[in-house]
Amino acid sequence: MSKFWSERTKCLQPYVPGEQPKLTNLVKLNTNENPFPPSPMVLTAMRQAVNDELCLYPDPNADKLKQTIADYYGLHKQQVFVGNGSDEVLAQAFAAFFQGKQQLLLPDISYSFYPVYCQLYDVEACCVPLNENFAIDPADYCHARAGVIFPNPNAPTGCILSLMQIEQILQANPDCVVLVDEAYIDFGGESSVKLIDDYPNLLVVQTLSKSRSLAGMRIGLAMGHVDLIEGLERVKNSFNSYPLDRVAQAGAVAAFMDDDYFRFTCAKVIENRIWLTEQLQRLKFEVLPSEANFVFARHDRKPAAQIAAFLRLHGVVVRHFLQDRISNFLRISVGTEEQQQRLIAVLEEMLTQ
Ligand SMILES: Cc1ncc(COP(=O)(O)O)c(C=O)c1O
Repeated sequence: MSKFWSERTKCLQPYVPGEQPKLTNLVKLNTNENPFPPSPMVLTAMRQAVNDELCLYPDPNADKLKQTIADYYGLHKQQVFVGNGSDEVLAQAFAAFFQGKQQLLLPDISYSFYPVYCQLYDVEACCVPLNENFAIDPADYCHARAGVIFPNPNAPTGCILSLMQIEQILQANPDCVVLVDEAYIDFGGESSVKLIDDYPNLLVVQTLSKSRSLAGMRIGLAMGHVDLIEGLERVKNSFNSYPLDRVAQAGAVAAFMDDDYFRFTCAKVIENRIWLTEQLQRLKFEVLPSEANFVFARHDRKPAAQIAAFLRLHGVVVRHFLQDRISNFLRISVGTEEQQQRLIAVLEEMLTQ
């Protein structure tokens, strides 16, 4: 605490990201990164962008990247916004659409950055409990005053809503923005992007951190009606004109061009998720149905905190949340085959003792 802090700074309870351990040779399954490297085309494009032109500012509008994303999804360039990681895009959406408003509906068990943005932007959060299956019930998301936000698939549960269920939420809230955070959509879900032309209140946010293996580059995007995107641009250009550097823009374009690699690695993650789920079930874990690159699981006997501590001691890091209803769950990111085999071997050692 310092006398120089503003009243707002004093009240903030910042988001705490999952551990990025400094030790090598750990099996790191705690922050839902992609276990596979970026596409070789992406690495080549980024290496080529490291040249004398770095003395010049990047394109502030990232036109080439926006056009590439628009072509990929069949949208107009004016329906695409990009930013420095989807966390930044989410923050700008809060500023553009929710700031100072009452009653933003969000699931009680969800991405823990949303309540932090509520504090930062003076938004009253209204947390809606997940149902008994840890799923979002669309009927609970009617008549919001500030708006609605949820991840699809949800994090940390991995459970997904169908497009019909999302339309139900959009139709129940025609006068406010419904933000669908699709950080994990490429691992088996159907994107709400195809609803954009029918719903001017829909904003879809995505990231290149997960399915495109670029967490280290910080690239996020939003897609929606041109008026929503214009609102985001106004906020962005009042904060930082150049959120994406030259290297990031080059890499992101290549990531959308190399569709074969993208499809191959997503399929591999899905295959590994199925294997991981089966192995955990064999070891008497209950595993929620996941369409993401992680699973959410609890053991029928051992407390989650104890399992997480044992895994850490044996070089495997997973995520444990100290939150009501989910404190006995572990969120385990899908890894490579070798990483998952090591995880399962350590769990076997612990649970068969
Ligand atoms: C649901 C959800 N949304 C957004 C993000 C942020 O992703 P990034 O800022 O890396 O694009 C995450 C990161 O884990 C997430 O889980």
